[in-house]
Amino acid sequence: MVHSLRSDNPLVGVRPSIGAYHPKRDIGGIMFISRPAPDVVALTDAVPLPGLGFRPVNAYVLYAREPVLIDTGLRASSPEFLDELWSLIEPADLRWVFLTHPDGDHTGSVFEILDAAPGARLVTTSPGMGLLARERRIPPGRVLTLNPGESLDVGDRRLLAFRPPFSDSPAKMGLIDDMTGSCFSSDGFGAPVTTADLLQSDDIGAVPEPDLIAGQRLWAAVDSPWPSGMDRDVFLSTLLPLRDVDPPVVLSSHLPPAHHKAEALLDTLANAQDARLHIGPDETPLRRMFAEMAPAHP
Ligand SMILES: [Fe+2]
Ligand SMILES: [Fe+2]
Repeated sequence: MVHSLRSDNPLVGVRPSIGAYHPKRDIGGIMFISRPAPDVVALTDAVPLPGLGFRPVNAYVLYAREPVLIDTGLRASSPEFLDELWSLIEPADLRWVFLTHPDGDHTGSVFEILDAAPGARLVTTSPGMGLLARERRIPPGRVLTLNPGESLDVGDRRLLAFRPPFSDSPAKMGLIDDMTGSCFSSDGFGAPVTTADLLQSDDIGAVPEPDLIAGQRLWAAVDSPWPSGMDRDVFLSTLLPLRDVDPPVVLSSHLPPAHHKAEALLDTLANAQDARLHIGPDETPLRRMFAEMAPAHP
């Protein structure tokens, strides 16, 4: 039996609405390939979010002199991810597999990729390495530990590691390409999108601004709820380093590409400190939504 607390109890949280929800088939496993920035190809997958739309899940290939894969997709889509990845780059050419953090939506094919690409080394933080080792031990010679503040030399450029301002993992790192300025922000920015079409947007400007702001606030509340208890000035200071960089494009793990929008994304986060804890749909409406999303059988 399920007992309930009153909906105004602060232990409960709020249910968000970010716009009309359009039920679509489960598109997980269908990769969308795009070129969102110089030298970068994105592999975009998605997870359906009943009642909200879709959570984009992006991995990126950076065609540096020493090519880099940034994150490795969803476990559930591993065969499709690997098919697309190896159509973009030969396994023998891949030199680095940069894991922004060891969450399941970033580690989906990491072991298969390391097996297929013997010349590639995994790059992550030492906490990331420790967490990954729960699944499989990786030979030390295949790993390079990188910490925020350090950089990775990939032949023709350096990738500067930084700690994204909003974080759901102490192991998390983003990267800034010092040749192009592209910022790979991991989960540091994110939002669900309401339609499958928006997953294929070449710029975040395709997402209606109120939906983007509501989606970012929801993301902040779900993914990184702890800033709600922080001193306001301390919290705002965490956003300053990225404001100073003002990258020309933010390539998030969970947003369409954001060109010249870093300041706006940071402004939304600055105002998201008060975002209330989120709760999802209850059992009965959730079952109904899953039923709507199920593929039709002939
Ligand atoms: Fe994460
Ligand atoms: Fe993530």
